[in-house]
Amino acid sequence: MACILVFDSGVGSIPIAEAIREHLPGSQVELVADSGFFPYGEKTEQELNDRIAKVLQRAVDKIQPDVIVLACNTASTIALEQVREQFHLPVVGVVPAIKPAAETSRSYTIGVIATPATIERDYTYDLINQFAPECEVVMKGSSELVKLAESWAFSGKLEVNELAEIISPFQLAHRKQSLDTLVLGCTHFPLLSDPIQELLPGVRIIDSSDAIGKQVKRVLSEEKRESQDKTNQQMTMWLTGKLPDSVKPGSLLSKYKLRSLDI
Ligand code: DGL
Repeated sequence: MACILVFDSGVGSIPIAEAIREHLPGSQVELVADSGFFPYGEKTEQELNDRIAKVLQRAVDKIQPDVIVLACNTASTIALEQVREQFHLPVVGVVPAIKPAAETSRSYTIGVIATPATIERDYTYDLINQFAPECEVVMKGSSELVKLAESWAFSGKLEVNELAEIISPFQLAHRKQSLDTLVLGCTHFPLLSDPIQELLPGVRIIDSSDAIGKQVKRVLSEEKRESQDKTNQQMTMWLTGKLPDSVKPGSLLSKYKLRSLDI
């Protein structure tokens, strides 16, 4: 059976893990949340490179996965090559879905919302220059949205007014420039895609989760891909920070077995 390690700073691993489970039902998916260093979008490249190397080494030693998924745009845009050199394993990264957005936009005006770090990275501008040179791209970096998604996952409560404030530049661009597509360039954001969609009727909201699910299936050997354990349904999330005293029943996190990574 395939064992897949899905890494993020927090609960952003969840949409990716769910997509992997759709393509590989019954695979063993272990989520690793670097909650002790959250949020990544406000850290420097050096801080993140050092931290990711350390936490992933600990997690790989413990979990012994067949594949590592860097389920974090912020981490992938800086540390993907470093992680590939560190481990002799397939490593799948995630970057903002700018290419499919540009390919399907009819108005040639698209939006990208991501962490402040991803919005500032050359990597993101290279994606725009390469795949969306004809598009007008409205960009916003928001750690507030990351924190909103994180607290919603733990408590089940959403600050709708705060969400509306964060999304307002895209509402304006939809009205004034016919923006027709919004890329969720942070893996936390698909957790809130339904309320975001309600604020942006008529705008196509896209993210990379499904593409990552397919890519993980492709990189596995046939033997690993085929062998599944249908009884293995509950996923574990390993946290580097303090385990929460309680998780609200019915919240997203209540579906996961929470364990400490001891780092
Ligand atoms: N989920 C992450 C991403 O995709 C990072 C969020 C954060 O820790 O700032 O970029």
